Amino acid sequence: MSVTIVLGTQWGDEGKGKAIDTFAGDFDYTARYNGGNNAGHTIVNEFGTFKIHLVPSGVFYPHVTCLIGGGVVIDPGVLLEEINSLRAAGIDLDGRLLISPRSHVIMPYHKLLDGLYEEAKGAGATGTTRRGIGPTFADKVSYNGIRWSDFADKDVLNDRLKMQVTLKNKVITALGGEPLDFNGVRDEYLGYYVQIKPFIRELFPIVQGGLKSGQKFLLEQAMGSCLDTDWGTYPFVTGSTTIASAATTGLGVPPRAITEIIGVTKAYTTRVGAGPMPTEILDDESVMQTLSEVAATTGRIRRGGWLDTEVVRFSSMVSGIDALFLTKLDILSAFEEIKICTGYELDGQSSHYYDLDSYQLGRAKPVYETVRGWHSDIRGIRQFADLPREAQEYVERVEELVGVKVGWVANGPEREAVMAR
Ligand code: GDP
Ligand code: IMO
Ligand code: MG
Repeated sequence: MSVTIVLGTQWGDEGKGKAIDTFAGDFDYTARYNGGNNAGHTIVNEFGTFKIHLVPSGVFYPHVTCLIGGGVVIDPGVLLEEINSLRAAGIDLDGRLLISPRSHVIMPYHKLLDGLYEEAKGAGATGTTRRGIGPTFADKVSYNGIRWSDFADKDVLNDRLKMQVTLKNKVITALGGEPLDFNGVRDEYLGYYVQIKPFIRELFPIVQGGLKSGQKFLLEQAMGSCLDTDWGTYPFVTGSTTIASAATTGLGVPPRAITEIIGVTKAYTTRVGAGPMPTEILDDESVMQTLSEVAATTGRIRRGGWLDTEVVRFSSMVSGIDALFLTKLDILSAFEEIKICTGYELDGQSSHYYDLDSYQLGRAKPVYETVRGWHSDIRGIRQFADLPREAQEYVERVEELVGVKVGWVANGPEREAVMAR
């Protein structure tokens, strides 16, 4: 059995797409199984630059079969657009993209409600991607969801969808929104189903058979560990599990089958949306400029700050991470001195991530140590030993503080910019 999970150890956008693109060539299958099209995974390779939301990032290797597990929620319009744009780039998905009929469908009312809830919450909003993720997962666990399997029987779909549109319209109008037309929604989605049907297949025998015959699975988790519904900074989280256990429910992989867990860690910290981020930099314009980014899904500005090893240590423990894939080391080349957060203090007491709720974490003060930067361009370097001494020391210090070895260091967005250690 060979199952490798790649997951984010921070608040998402760690560079999981790049890590998957680095590894996927050695695998038979690559799979998504949590989240939905709130994810935006950037891949830069010989085919171009892609910001992928639903299709597994291993798609660029023609021999790799791509699976979307039942744990993913799918906006069919976004999926079809993605399939078409990949096709236009010469990446054919016919016969090699398989979607679980258990996956739930993001409906227009989910997207509408996502926005209406956010607006109603005002200053207390989550800062969601407004892709309908939370409302779709809420419907899933409250037995109100619509799955692809429901589309197989028009009468079943008609009854279930009619009930949902009726229910949701009551909430939508109460919140000041425009009610949806049932026939319009049904016909639009039946149109999507015709196009998506060829990809829908029960994945259970494929996964079980593959595990039995020794085929290799690369599992691409979405979001980051601190956005996990249970272990993240609740209520500033996402609607699905983002720690390693997501693979068991979202794809049907038995826990014992998981052989390796790789944690993708950005060499600093970013967060998009609301919620606590102890190392966020708010008072130094030039550092802020260097560390902030533009979000791949929504185009919002990502908040930036120094590396928080308390968070990465927590994520490594909760998921049992074997090795880290450290990204964006090249961005830190801008600094003469670099800070690393080693832990927190709250009200004069040393505290851990897991001790604090979101509101306490918002008040926690990071404890920093300052290390010397290398302050030179490291892009283009392909061997760890060729990095400036200070850059090597930074990586070694991260390993020490997190307690997990760094197996790979990335120093650029493109496929070649990665050093295995
Ligand atoms: P994901 O959601 O975890 O896949 O990450 P995103 O794609 O949302 O954000 C990561 C961003 O960093 C993307 O723009 C990547 O192209 C970029 N990136 C990844 N690794 C590196 C790296 O080592 N150096 C630089 N400069 N950019 C990187
Ligand atoms: P990838 O896979 C970064 C954040 C949103 C918001 C919160 C809830 O690219 O790392 P949601 O729309 O999920 O209900 O929003 O979660 N969020 C992400 N942040 N990267 C992501 O995915 C994210 N997916 C959701 O910004 O704060
Ligand atoms: Mg992203």
